[in-house]
Amino acid sequence: MILLLGASGYLGRAFADELRRRGYGFIPLTRRALDYGDFSRLFNYVRKVQPEFLINAAGYPGRPNLDACESAHELALSANTLLPQTIARVCLMTHTAWGHVSSSGIYTGAKVFDHGVLLLEKDLNQPRLRQRLAEQPEFVRGFTEGDAPNFTFRDGWCNFYNGTKALAEEMIRGVGRSYLWRPGILFSEQDEPRNLLTRIQQYPKVYDSINSLSHAGDFARACLNLWEREAAFGVYNVVNPGVISNREVVEMIQRILKPQRQFEFWKDEREFYHFGARAPRSHCLLDITKLLNTGEEMRPVTEALEDTLHHWHAASPPAALAAP
Ligand SMILES: NC(=O)c1ccc[n+]([C@@H]2O[C@H](COP(=O)([O-])OP(=O)(O)OC[C@H]3O[C@@H](n4cnc5c(N)ncnc54)[C@H](OP(=O)(O)O)[C@@H]3O)[C@@H](O)[C@H]2O)c1
Repeated sequence: MILLLGASGYLGRAFADELRRRGYGFIPLTRRALDYGDFSRLFNYVRKVQPEFLINAAGYPGRPNLDACESAHELALSANTLLPQTIARVCLMTHTAWGHVSSSGIYTGAKVFDHGVLLLEKDLNQPRLRQRLAEQPEFVRGFTEGDAPNFTFRDGWCNFYNGTKALAEEMIRGVGRSYLWRPGILFSEQDEPRNLLTRIQQYPKVYDSINSLSHAGDFARACLNLWEREAAFGVYNVVNPGVISNREVVEMIQRILKPQRQFEFWKDEREFYHFGARAPRSHCLLDITKLLNTGEEMRPVTEALEDTLHHWHAASPPAALAAP
């Protein structure tokens, strides 16, 4: 039996769907049923039910977005750093194997070959780098699991949400029999607030950034496969390979979903941070060679996005809008 924490959330539901598809018995534990952030309660519960694996898909990414974490420090720290630390201690003491959902957002930028040397470029959106990515993508490399995160409290420049995620990795990395899975920005077929494809369609203006993305179902499947095939415990980047900009995602949405609205873009970073966002965002690329070397296959990001949009389930319009 598998214990799933955060099953009511966006990624938690993706894990629950995948577990159901595989016919696994699992307990989708909610905070309402058990305050799993409390060490003694979780310890006694895990000792009692003895799960063969525990998945931590719980956390606080901010509502409606990570800007909310800037004014909810205690909540973000408790859900994103202290909770994984508590789970790590419980799993260590009960010899339970487990996996934790981390984030690609603990990095910003990518690594770029310059005269044969790999240099760190922190700003993926600078025109020179965007041109390089378009013309010579083979000269740009994502961060590997061995690269130190560079968008953390230690770096002095990050947002509070990603700071708490990086701190969690620092505290639990290498503790017990654990996986640290790093997704990129998540998307899926279901129209809902956490989904990148929903957010892009709802933003008044889109910021044309580049990021590694993960299809939520592909992510859950790959994470479970790592455990099932007994891959070595440790950190794994789990994203759909390839590079795509938000502008290209918008073009795909226009071509496939044919929405009524026109899309506008923030002119530049200055305008975006003045009107569209409060806390700094990370924009980064992750390398998944380590994941692929375990035998896992990941669809290229453009293929995954195309397929997702062709199977798009639009949410029903809110009742107030549907009424005459
Ligand atoms: N969405 C993304 O694009 C993305 C990208 C990278 C990483 N992640 C990470 O993936 C994990 C899940 O994200 P998500 O998008 O699925 O979030 P979500 O939809 O908000 O779900 C998170 C779940 O965590 C549980 N939880 C436990 N403590 C909480 C607290 N103090 N405040 C709020 N919720 C709490 C809640 O479940 P119960 O109350 O029912 O137990 C909630 O349903 C997080 O660790 C997040 O950092 C998300």
